[in-house]
Amino acid sequence: MSTNTPRLLFFLFTILLLSNPPPSSAQQAVKSLSSFNITNSPWRPDQNQILLSPNSVFAAGFKPTSQNQKLYTFSVWYHNVSINKIVWSTNDKSPVNGSAALVITTTGVLRLNDFSGKNVGPWNVSGNASITNLTLSNDGNLTYSTWQSFTYPTDTILPNQNITGTQIVSMNGKYSFSNSTYLVYSKENYWDMGKAFQLLDKDGKMSQETGSFVTSDFGAPRLRRLKLDNDGNLIIYSFSPDLGEWILVWKAVEEICKIYGTCGPNAICVNDGSNSTPHCVCPPGYKQNSGGAIEGCTIKIPLTNLGNTKFLQLDYVNYTSGSNQTEQIVANNFTDCQAHCLNNSKCLGFGFKYDGKGYCAIQLGRLVYGYWSPGTEVSMFLRVDKSETEQSNFSGMTKLLDTTCPVNISLPLPPEESNTTTRNIVIVCTLFAAELITGVFFFWGFLKKYIKYREMAQTLSLELLPAGGPKRFSYAELKAATNDFSNLIGRGGFGDVYKGELTDHRVVAVKCLKHVTGGDAEFWAEVTIIARMHHLNLVRLWGFCAEKGKRILVYEFVPNGSLDKYIFQKGKVKYSESESEMDMVPVGPNPVLDWNIRYRIALGVARSIAYLHEECLEWVLHCDIKPENILLGDDFCPKISDFGLAKMKKKEDIVSLSRIRGTRGYMAPEWVGQDPITSKADVYSFGMVLLEIVTGTRNFEMQGSVMESEDWYLPRWAFDKVFKELKVEDILDCRIKHSYDSRAHFNLVDRMVKTAMWCLQDRPEMRPSMGKVAKMLEGTVEITEPRKPTIFFLGAE
Ligand SMILES: *[C@@H]1O[C@H](CO)[C@@H](O)[C@H](O)[C@H]1NC(C)=O
Ligand SMILES: *[C@@H]1O[C@H](CO)[C@@H](O)[C@H](O)[C@H]1NC(C)=O
Ligand SMILES: *[C@@H]1O[C@H](CO)[C@@H](O)[C@H](O)[C@H]1NC(C)=O
Ligand SMILES: *[C@@H]1O[C@H](CO)[C@@H](O)[C@H](O)[C@H]1NC(C)=O
Ligand SMILES: *[C@@H]1O[C@H](CO)[C@@H](O)[C@H](O)[C@H]1NC(C)=O
Ligand SMILES: *[C@@H]1O[C@H](CO)[C@@H](O)[C@H](O)[C@H]1NC(C)=O
Ligand SMILES: *[C@@H]1O[C@H](CO)[C@@H](O)[C@H](O)[C@H]1NC(C)=O
Repeated sequence: MSTNTPRLLFFLFTILLLSNPPPSSAQQAVKSLSSFNITNSPWRPDQNQILLSPNSVFAAGFKPTSQNQKLYTFSVWYHNVSINKIVWSTNDKSPVNGSAALVITTTGVLRLNDFSGKNVGPWNVSGNASITNLTLSNDGNLTYSTWQSFTYPTDTILPNQNITGTQIVSMNGKYSFSNSTYLVYSKENYWDMGKAFQLLDKDGKMSQETGSFVTSDFGAPRLRRLKLDNDGNLIIYSFSPDLGEWILVWKAVEEICKIYGTCGPNAICVNDGSNSTPHCVCPPGYKQNSGGAIEGCTIKIPLTNLGNTKFLQLDYVNYTSGSNQTEQIVANNFTDCQAHCLNNSKCLGFGFKYDGKGYCAIQLGRLVYGYWSPGTEVSMFLRVDKSETEQSNFSGMTKLLDTTCPVNISLPLPPEESNTTTRNIVIVCTLFAAELITGVFFFWGFLKKYIKYREMAQTLSLELLPAGGPKRFSYAELKAATNDFSNLIGRGGFGDVYKGELTDHRVVAVKCLKHVTGGDAEFWAEVTIIARMHHLNLVRLWGFCAEKGKRILVYEFVPNGSLDKYIFQKGKVKYSESESEMDMVPVGPNPVLDWNIRYRIALGVARSIAYLHEECLEWVLHCDIKPENILLGDDFCPKISDFGLAKMKKKEDIVSLSRIRGTRGYMAPEWVGQDPITSKADVYSFGMVLLEIVTGTRNFEMQGSVMESEDWYLPRWAFDKVFKELKVEDILDCRIKHSYDSRAHFNLVDRMVKTAMWCLQDRPEMRPSMGKVAKMLEGTVEITEPRKPTIFFLGAE
């Protein structure tokens, strides 16, 4: 009998609801519930009602889908910020309409009924109707009886949500993050974390198996979420209260084209650096499928006569045929590799590296996941019918350039000078003829205009360049943008820096290079490569200007100035003449950075140098890492500037320049010796910066006074304090020493100090690679006790 009463009540309640439709949501205030139970049931989308977590950070309820305001998903989202983000939802693939309802039946079953009364909810659980509530916890966990949304994540993981054993899938269903270790597309892994992720904590620390962790914006408690986006990238977003925005603080895959499935079969994914969305193109000899290259490409002349095929060379393009059908061999030379392909009837092409190591990857049966990237030293040789006439426009792997840092780098070829000239002449003549026809024939007048025409022609012919380069600005444009180079914000080793604003309102830092060696062609090539380096912790290059002998680079503007302004005490010693790259000193004294921020900066810098060294295959040694070249963006996100520029200078220039400018303290011993400069030189400089971040003093200063003594060597002193006297506190920056809590910070500081000691080893081969350094800081590898750095002087003149 007793069960009938609630049923009757429920019935009456429903009748009441149906006969008395609530006013439209516009006039109705949002009603918030602290729990949902049989007394509130049913819950319809038009009731404008939400379930709030006790701390009001999260809310749950019916949310209209982004495509259609009349369709809803029952979701959980971040509520107390202006930009709500859905973090969990029931039925994103089949949303319900306005006549759906969330109900708790008298038997305690939680259902999401669609218009026909069918249960489309994911729950298969029953409670006790008289006592069980649907609630939302402070962490955003939606709970009903034994069911909880944390066990069934959709595309997002929240702080404190245990990831072990769960899988998240991107909203479009294409990608998954499996075993909390791999990113998977169509059963193939395109990214591997190495160790399983376990838990993202309140401070942004992502712990992994065996106690190591990865960080994003480690530090203060923030709203954060780890999301597998629809483009297949795994991203940590963090809400910045200052900016009022969700910002991207960590991503798994740096180069978006390396994500599988962005383009269809045979197509090539190209990300040209001008924006973050990649596009798909067909290789020569192939045509787009209906639906465009994003759906893939098909060969124009099928390979039926295998005795009659040739290869087209696609530089910087890498394909695979999937884990089972790629045969990777070590070939003696190019001909050897080619012969392997010709001898196999299934071979559709092969990848080859001109590095003398015989890398040869034969692709059998299919060609997928193709991408173009300057970080790939591979050329793809695509098998086509001999009668194919189309030429490859993926070129450039032909020229080797000697660089300051003695690594051979391949450069894309600049546009043919003669072609451009011919084109210019044609365009100029056409304009001239046009003038003739309109009867404005005045020779001197024409000559005066010739210059203008030539510039027009240059602009026109540059527009015809293959897509993908950074934007070329005219000198006049930059002059206007910087208000005639009036706002000088820095004097760096490579030239003066001005602040400016482009016509599209992007704020830029414009760097006018001095003493750059090499011709236009080389400059063009270098800039193209620099512009293609993408990393969260690298300053973005947006464009350049090469006109009238001027060499100008246009960078994104980084608002907070450089690291030296924050870690060193100002005005005590005036030793270095060196000025910061971007000397935008904010009004008032700079805040003293806390341990977490310092650690975050160190890690970000290490990661971006590792990216330069490793993802870009040692093309880009920085050669000038120092606090002045580490800029701080929003939220103290570090961004390295001036990478790639060292290539434009000679070794002697760098050494002498650095002597004058007082940056010698960062230069590895091999700069003065006979040893070749390798990526380990950057590791040394980084180690010095790391030690300075911890101690808050320049390596040639101590507590504000220059150390004149010949014997003074910061690394050695620090080593003795930490490892002999076991007094870590003595080396810490005295301004934040008081906030050093050995329990909270020991781990971070210890890691920073030990890593720095390893980086500062005298012999390059003793120093770890930059990738390893990043891992040491993260804690993913164990750091053994470092050896004492031996004494070393560069400036013994
Ligand atoms: C049902 O929910 C209402 C409103 O959220 C709440 O006041 C009431 O205590 C809940 N009932 C039970 C049995 O928990
Ligand atoms: C949201 O709530 C949390 C916890 O109460 C708080 O720390 C945070 O500052 C709030 N965010 C905003 C933007 O109000
Ligand atoms: C539901 O809870 C009530 C109150 O605690 C209890 O009296 C009743 O026996 C429970 N019903 C079931 C089916 O467990
Ligand atoms: C996560 O859950 C697994 C089992 O589900 C457990 O073994 C592990 O200890 C949990 N990890 C953390 C960090 O709570
Ligand atoms: C080419 O791409 C495949 C699949 O993405 C990858 O496994 C391979 O390492 C790449 N080769 C080179 C030389 O980058
Ligand atoms: C590779 O081949 C093995 C055995 O033939 C098969 O079990 C496996 O599923 C294949 N893997 C892929 C990714 O196709
Ligand atoms: C090559 O040409 C095709 C078709 O003209 C074009 O879509 C593609 O962007 C070009 N590729 C490069 C690298 O310029």
